Amino acid sequence: MQLIDGKAIAATIKKEIAEEVEKIIAQGGKQPHLAAILVGHDGGSETYVANKVRACEECGFKSTLIRYEEDITEEQLLAKVEELNNDSDIDGFIVQLPLPRHIDEQKITEAIDYRKDVDGFHPVNAGRLAIGLPCFLSATPNGIMELLRRYNIDTKGKKCVVLGRSNIVGKPMASLMMQKQTPGDATVTVCHSHTQNIAEECRNADIIIAALGQPHFVKADMVKEGAVIIDVGTTRVPDATRKQGFRLCGDVDFENVAPKCSYITPVPGGVGPMTIVSLMKNTLLAATHKIY
Ligand code: GUN
Repeated sequence: MQLIDGKAIAATIKKEIAEEVEKIIAQGGKQPHLAAILVGHDGGSETYVANKVRACEECGFKSTLIRYEEDITEEQLLAKVEELNNDSDIDGFIVQLPLPRHIDEQKITEAIDYRKDVDGFHPVNAGRLAIGLPCFLSATPNGIMELLRRYNIDTKGKKCVVLGRSNIVGKPMASLMMQKQTPGDATVTVCHSHTQNIAEECRNADIIIAALGQPHFVKADMVKEGAVIIDVGTTRVPDATRKQGFRLCGDVDFENVAPKCSYITPVPGGVGPMTIVSLMKNTLLAATHKIY
């Protein structure tokens, strides 16, 4: 069993990005600039956004954090999105999700100029991904593809089961794994809450990508000997022994599943750090106009 060290790969990629930024600036180019809008004080969102700002510093990017209280109106938020769309100094920006209930997330997502949508959530980017055109890729699936690439994990013709069908992870992940490319070229099955006999689907899989948000859902008896296991879960479970009062729990019963695998990602330190790095890559692509 080999542990997939997302933290180490992410550190390497951040260095690579920082070197590229240095070159751009040495040639008189512009420092890449990412902006993030954070509404309210959700604990998870606060942590994610703080990590994104820190990653920008590590990559040599400029970052701007725009904060609003929970009671911002949809109109005010749409006006800010429009302002960022038109701000030529900002290469890309994100609106951290989830948003308060009175704000329509889809409306906000669609208001973002797809050429600055470094999250890859805009329908233009999601659609272009589905038909294999260059686009901003959703960060978590792209981070997973990068891990498969850097560990030289063979996916061609393999049976890949994706657990979960979210727009952010499950659907784009399935698209990327079935794409005519390396890594990719897999035979993909997407399982969800209405799938019959998920355990059997998993047992047939060479690669399982678990993105359900259900702690320890994937048990040892659901995993084929030698399978590759990618764990996207990051559920916060109460833990009085931790300073923060919680720990992150993956969708895979790591302790019992790991001995059966050829490769497995830990939680934390597997997929999580790669997600942020993918956002940095998209920002660099936006700044250098490599896609649009
Ligand atoms: N909330 C959870 N993950 C993400 C993400 O990747 N981007 C944004 N904007 N919000 C999120």
